[in-house]
Amino acid sequence: MSALDTRGKITHEIFEQFIGIVGSANILAEEEQLTHYGHDETEHLSFLPEVVLKPSNPAEISAIMQICNTNGIPVTPRGAGTGLSGGALPHLGGVLLSTEKLNKILLIDERNLQITTEPGVITEVLQNAVKEKGLFYPPDPSSKGSCFIGGNIAENSGGPKAVKYGVVKDYVLNLEVVLPNGEIIWTGANVLKNATGYNLTQLLVGSEGTLGIVTKIVLKLIPFPKFDLLMLVPFSSLEKASEAVSAIFRAGFVPSALELIEIDALMIVSEMVGSTAVPVNDSIAAHLIIEVDGNNMDVLMSEMESIAELLTQFGSGEIFFADDAQQKAELWKLRRRAAEAVKTNGYTIEEDTVVPRAELPALIKGVKELGKTYGFKAVCYGHAGDGNLHIRINHPTIKNSHGNAEMTAALTALFQLVNSLGGTISGEHGIGLIQKPYMDTVFKKTNLHLMREIKKVFDPNNILNAGKIFD
Ligand code: LAC
Ligand code: ZN
Repeated sequence: MSALDTRGKITHEIFEQFIGIVGSANILAEEEQLTHYGHDETEHLSFLPEVVLKPSNPAEISAIMQICNTNGIPVTPRGAGTGLSGGALPHLGGVLLSTEKLNKILLIDERNLQITTEPGVITEVLQNAVKEKGLFYPPDPSSKGSCFIGGNIAENSGGPKAVKYGVVKDYVLNLEVVLPNGEIIWTGANVLKNATGYNLTQLLVGSEGTLGIVTKIVLKLIPFPKFDLLMLVPFSSLEKASEAVSAIFRAGFVPSALELIEIDALMIVSEMVGSTAVPVNDSIAAHLIIEVDGNNMDVLMSEMESIAELLTQFGSGEIFFADDAQQKAELWKLRRRAAEAVKTNGYTIEEDTVVPRAELPALIKGVKELGKTYGFKAVCYGHAGDGNLHIRINHPTIKNSHGNAEMTAALTALFQLVNSLGGTISGEHGIGLIQKPYMDTVFKKTNLHLMREIKKVFDPNNILNAGKIFD
């Protein structure tokens, strides 16, 4: 038992206090319910909280935090539970605080191109709500149909559109946050520029629920681009496909998505969703999925033609253009469901490496070599345009990296390679529980000391998502 494990501290009296705050319908303590909230999408990991609380507003969260802070009870905040680094896993027991009831869009401000929302809104619901008004909120993680915007803030999520439009941090203007001691603050102002002291807003973005619980979010919006074009380009060599990625940008193009998917992943996901949209044959090693968007169709057509022409230098095969909305949706479904598909096919361990994009070929080559050394199969896909490669690992016997010495050695070697290429451990999934053993492959002691000191300022009693990012 770790020093932090205060299991059993939720006395009958505290339990009654929780009921007084959230009401008996919003406190769960049956084993089956706890099991549901005890896992996210990370590997095959599961930890039971003592109770699940479902508060409805910041005042209730504040009251819960005051009790937990006074009594040293661990609190794990949770959005939709789609995370891939174990950030929402209640590994210390205690309170699992679900934000699912804070699920309202509060204001779409068309005058200022902003939206104010609660954290428990599904990302795609938010995107559709602003799209109806001709506005665009670009960050689109693969799980956009089920993940919460609050979880996206916690992890600083990205997704395919990040390559042109940036990640979550580029859209967050202001946050209402409940601090571990129960105080409620706004971190900034609803403005596009802000040079007013330390940037607490951006410190909270990507802090993985360790510094405060976000209860309101103000996001910047942009006009929705009128048109997009999408194509799928096959390559007979994975290395050539990855070399082509940086060439596209060097030639002056900025696609709105530039994804890579290795053939094994595409075959597995096609089978899972029952799709025959993409012809697969032995000569194909990988595909690039390339999208351009904007307001002038002629410009987009000419861009696509020029990109296609450029790709012939890298041995591209016959290009498949998605002609209509249905074909586009089909292609995106194949890409977005890749993680889920390969996981159910034994690729249970996922990494979220990111390198400067011209180093992608070196990273992919290194991954395959590490697979031979450590006895695993690796399949790669992801946001190649950002140099952000998801590496899914299928080991014949090891299904969780967490707590496994052999897999820890393999992943340490992987992250040392990533570091030597100028990259880092996570591009968009965060560190959470499972990546924390590797923080020292990319940071000096001083960096980690600074991070720990920041955590102490916000959370001196170490009750909020303790043991995530670092011990
Ligand atoms: C994706 C998720 C896993 O890109 O980040 O599919
Ligand atoms: Zn991704």
